[in-house]
Amino acid sequence: MKYYLATYGCQMNEYDSAMIASMLEDVGYYETENAEDADVILVNTCSVRKKAEDNIYARISQLKPLKQSNPDLRIAVLGCMAENHGAKITDTLKHVDFVVGPDQYRGLVDILALPPSKSPHRQQPKSVLVGFDSAENYDDNFAKILSPFSTHITIQRGCNKRCAYCIVPFTRGIEKFRPVESILAEVQKAVDKGVKEISLLGQTVNSYRYEGNSFANLLSKVAEIKGVERLRFTSPHPRHYTDELLWVLTHTPQISPHTHLPLQSGSNDILKSMRRQYDSEDFLAIVEYLRASDPFYGVTTDIIVGFTGETEEDYLQTLEVVKHAQFDHAFMFAYSPREGTEAFDWPDSISEAEKHRRLQKLIDLQNEITRQRSQNMIGREEKVLIERPSPKNPEEWMGKTGNFKNVALPADFSPQAGDIVTAKITEVRGWTLRGEAINL
Ligand code: 5AD
Ligand code: SF4
Repeated sequence: MKYYLATYGCQMNEYDSAMIASMLEDVGYYETENAEDADVILVNTCSVRKKAEDNIYARISQLKPLKQSNPDLRIAVLGCMAENHGAKITDTLKHVDFVVGPDQYRGLVDILALPPSKSPHRQQPKSVLVGFDSAENYDDNFAKILSPFSTHITIQRGCNKRCAYCIVPFTRGIEKFRPVESILAEVQKAVDKGVKEISLLGQTVNSYRYEGNSFANLLSKVAEIKGVERLRFTSPHPRHYTDELLWVLTHTPQISPHTHLPLQSGSNDILKSMRRQYDSEDFLAIVEYLRASDPFYGVTTDIIVGFTGETEEDYLQTLEVVKHAQFDHAFMFAYSPREGTEAFDWPDSISEAEKHRRLQKLIDLQNEITRQRSQNMIGREEKVLIERPSPKNPEEWMGKTGNFKNVALPADFSPQAGDIVTAKITEVRGWTLRGEAINL
């Protein structure tokens, strides 16, 4: 039996897909890259913004002819849209057989063994498996390793924050922490297979706590495992940067000097109405601490413009914080009201055109800062983790610096994926640094 798995959205979904791949392969399925060849098509989905959902709906609709030409094909919709819309998906997209939410993947193998719905009008019983399970941490289900040298490991699921704009607490439930032992066992298994880079994942990853262990303790324990050369994590919440955590981040060589720190807004009024639990001063204090330890510390962020009630003044404050923080990169979004969230019932006060104007101006500002931060890297010697041949130029290989910048290196040093080489940064080309390997 062949499965085809498409993944949308965040790294949590990527991890879940890798875990599902491992569950399926344990019972004899194998993966195909080609949806036309598959006996089972799984689509792991994202609900964060309406546009994402619309695109995924369109993609699932396109699968209909495959079902018509192969009535034995099973199609399953997984992830946040599954939880968010449940049976509405099978009602509107009749060619979808199964809908399975993020806490229900253990039931997936069994559900896939059910016969597919032969008629577009007849659904299988039990085809929708959603709802939260406060005990489900998938402790014993290690994910398929994503690459021979780097992998994600989920340590926390769900979110307790209830930011006013965000659908995640409704699609992934309340926060749950995976036991330390189970995390360390998955890390050990990965390094035993040669993995050098580990990314710990959670919706608010640094809120982690388990039987007296904080996130800082956990990081120290993971860093001690022999073979862990680069330790990363995403996404932290500014509220949970304790002094202990800041100390561990800046004194543990295995932890890469990069943090993805979602700002969302630079206006304290908007942060308050978003229920973010910090103000712009708290946020900038974290950035300043990290950059005091290393001026090249990589800081990336997420920002939403046009949230309900955002005045021009609020927006200008966001631009000011962006100038102060000097982010290395930012994901920037226009606010998308999501049904079920607290802010959905507040009047969406800003027109799409105005949201777009604010977004474009912010993107222009950030692009300039990104370019400058990259320029500053010229002349530095950096450790680069080699990832893959450049898709654009067969004479070059791509890799990443500790502070999370892409570097292209001429392939004159017999590179292999997973090597860590020292390179001198020589120029910036577009969004990519270029360098030359040295000391070989
Ligand atoms: N509209 C726009 N962006 C959103 N995000 C979360 N919810 C929304 C929304 N309703 C953004 C936040 C978050 C990132 C993953 O997606 O910036 O950090
Ligand atoms: Fe959503 Fe806020 Fe939780 Fe992040 S912290 S997942 S933005 S509710």
